[in-house]
Amino acid sequence: MKDLQAYLNKIDTALRSWELPGAPNNLYDPLRYFMTLGGKRIRPVFTALGAELYGVSEEEYLPVALAVEMFHNFTLVHDDIMDKAPLRRGKPTVHEKWNHDIALLSGDVMLVKAYQLLGTHKGNHLGELLDLFNKTAVEVCEGQQLDMDFEQRKDVTVDAYMGMIRLKTSVLLGSAIEMGAILGHAQKEDRQNLYAFGENIGLAFQIQDDILDLYADAAIFGKQVGGDVIANKKTLLSLLAYQHATSEQRVRLEALSVLDHAELKVIQTREIYNEIGAKALCEKEMLEHHNKALVALTSVHLPEEQKQKLKDLADFLLIRNV
Ligand code: IPE
Ligand code: IPE
Ligand code: MG
Ligand code: MG
Ligand code: MG
Repeated sequence: MKDLQAYLNKIDTALRSWELPGAPNNLYDPLRYFMTLGGKRIRPVFTALGAELYGVSEEEYLPVALAVEMFHNFTLVHDDIMDKAPLRRGKPTVHEKWNHDIALLSGDVMLVKAYQLLGTHKGNHLGELLDLFNKTAVEVCEGQQLDMDFEQRKDVTVDAYMGMIRLKTSVLLGSAIEMGAILGHAQKEDRQNLYAFGENIGLAFQIQDDILDLYADAAIFGKQVGGDVIANKKTLLSLLAYQHATSEQRVRLEALSVLDHAELKVIQTREIYNEIGAKALCEKEMLEHHNKALVALTSVHLPEEQKQKLKDLADFLLIRNV
């Protein structure tokens, strides 16, 4: 991970040095606040690594990588409104620190900024970059809507859940790396396999995100632990737990789903998931997608040693605790 840290620092420095107007403060202060809160920056690192596979210069890939991260941050600010999340990256969310309207609008500016960054591309790939970026942006919105719709539903299958997380999370990881490869004139088949690598890493990543949502150490996680249970989100944990529960456990889970006391709801739901062994079931599924990602990477027509940083990043994501 030491090597990857250098990429992360590069991205972080570029984001922090972004010059913003002072006024209106209520528009730009939230942006400054959010963009300097940190975050793992894995999506722009994907773009950087995808580009470097084909010898693309930092000067050329950096604006594209930053555009991907800006887009991601836009989705987070809006996601936190939708999920009523109090905390993000260890600090109050934008809508909590300011208010909903301010969070909406500063999120919107992040999206516009992402397009402005893409627009600075000097090569001849803008059309292809925009096609992929736009397709991905629409898919993320579709995934986010499904995620919200699923909160009210009791008939969500594991397949439907996988489709939803592919849209809300995985497509952006796939596109992040493919956009790097586009800059490098990669052949179509390699682009597709790099996308498949990112997409499967993305599925594993969201499954891990769901696990951490309930099992992370609150002192380091940076988000509210148990938020998914409180909101009755359909996560792989909740779906597999329900699938493997006895009828008595199902009755208890259903009673908890309508409990108003958030703290008790989280503690008792976790206890039932523990009885069922739901976390281990999710981890198995997560590893399967991690392995699928590595298979896709093997098919990319480049020497294996050139792919090492991507494998390192994939491994790091498996053991993350934030
Ligand atoms: C959070 O993404 C949203 C998901 C898709 C799970 P990250 O876990 O990458 O968030 P940051 O950018 O590191 O804060
Ligand atoms: C969010 O999924 C995915 C997007 C932001 C598009 P989550 O709602 O699970 O992400 P976190 O847990 O709030 O980071
Ligand atoms: Mg969400
Ligand atoms: Mg959320
Ligand atoms: Mg989550």
